[in-house]
Amino acid sequence: MAGVDASVPGTRRARSAAVPIVALDYPDSLSALRLVSQLGESCRFYKVGSELFTASGPSVVEAIRREGCDVFLDLKLHDIPNTVAGAMRRIRGMGVRLATVHASGGRAMIEAAVQAAGSECGVLAVTVLTSLDSRALGEVVGAESADVAASVLRLAALASASGARGVVCSGEEARLVRARLGSSLELLVPGVRLPGDAPGDQSRIVTPEAAAAAGADYLVLGRTVTAAADPEAAMRAVLEQLSVEKRLRTAE
Ligand code: C5P
Repeated sequence: MAGVDASVPGTRRARSAAVPIVALDYPDSLSALRLVSQLGESCRFYKVGSELFTASGPSVVEAIRREGCDVFLDLKLHDIPNTVAGAMRRIRGMGVRLATVHASGGRAMIEAAVQAAGSECGVLAVTVLTSLDSRALGEVVGAESADVAASVLRLAALASASGARGVVCSGEEARLVRARLGSSLELLVPGVRLPGDAPGDQSRIVTPEAAAAAGADYLVLGRTVTAAADPEAAMRAVLEQLSVEKRLRTAE
């Protein structure tokens, strides 16, 4: 298993280096598994999201695990507690290491998810999607604009109090969440871009080095690797940034 200390189920590993997770945002399992074999040892943790999962279902999770890699199933569940618990029991049965729910589903829903996931599968709660900025979030809550960082903190505190293993937030808020909620909460940061890459539909993006320096435990790498002309070279650049950050941090 990559990077997570399974000997202490339900607890955060000692923070060494941020673990990179590549997002397999593909419409079919063939393309996804091609990238898994192309990246080889350089990536041992993959994210299966709603596009790939609705196309291929549990069989793609099984195939990735057969390659010896860990799976983060990012379905961002948001439903009544009973329904979320039922889905989470199936997710646990697939041997998934990390799975997401929306923190805005509320305390009872997060608690039900955590209980159903058991100690082997960590539940991460999504705070505010990295595609939302203050205007877009304002529209959701019926205001001209909304304070993204304050919303992230409020939802992260709710997730933590409800027993979630960690939260998903952008690199821009990671430092704040770490400072307010301490080191026991795992932080997963999407919206990561190598310098010079296009942001696409993301609003709150950071480099791998900046995300790790802000306290991320896991980085989700999507198009910065999958849409690169040379995904292996992009992955090497990410690993290089992470090792530089780790060297700087341990030298402090
Ligand atoms: O290609 P890109 O790096 O933008 O992809 C980011 C990945 O992280 C996508 O798979 C997306 O679903 C996921 N994600 C996100 N924002 C969140 C949670 C997950 O972008 N808050």
